[in-house]
Amino acid sequence: MSSAHPSPGLDPAAARDLLDRAREVRAHAYAPYSHFPVGAALLAADGRVFTGCNVENASYGLTNCAERVAIGKAVSEGVREFVAVAVTGPEDALAAAPCGACRQVLSEFGPDLPVIMPAQGEPGYVVESIGGLLPGAFGPARLAQSQQARGA
Ligand code: THU
Repeated sequence: MSSAHPSPGLDPAAARDLLDRAREVRAHAYAPYSHFPVGAALLAADGRVFTGCNVENASYGLTNCAERVAIGKAVSEGVREFVAVAVTGPEDALAAAPCGACRQVLSEFGPDLPVIMPAQGEPGYVVESIGGLLPGAFGPARLAQSQQARGA
């Protein structure tokens, strides 16, 4: 994981604010099975923030992660351009990196998207890009290559 540094276009105060939004929405997590509440706050290019928490299910595999809830809320509101996402697990100063499925889903909308995660000490967070967390991701460009080859 990279050392803490402000993501381009997002100063430290804004990064900490976004992380605070993730901590706030974490309070709504429905996590009676794992007892591992997660909050995510996705900052859109238009300045809006879309939040999400994990929503578990008695049929465990149907659980929705916080990040994918946030993405779903944004995309369903017609928003697809994002500046950064903040993600927090149960602890306020301990990073909880997005799971593989969430990395893939976030990557669809921005391989360079900075992911802000809590950390101890100053500045209180670390940043890693989705591309750094999911190198060599499968994405829309690969599908387009085959479509082109088929002449479709
Ligand atoms: N979880 C998330 O919400 N996001 C992640 O990226 C990692 C895992 C949730 C799923 C489950 O409700 C709990 O954390 C424990 O795995």
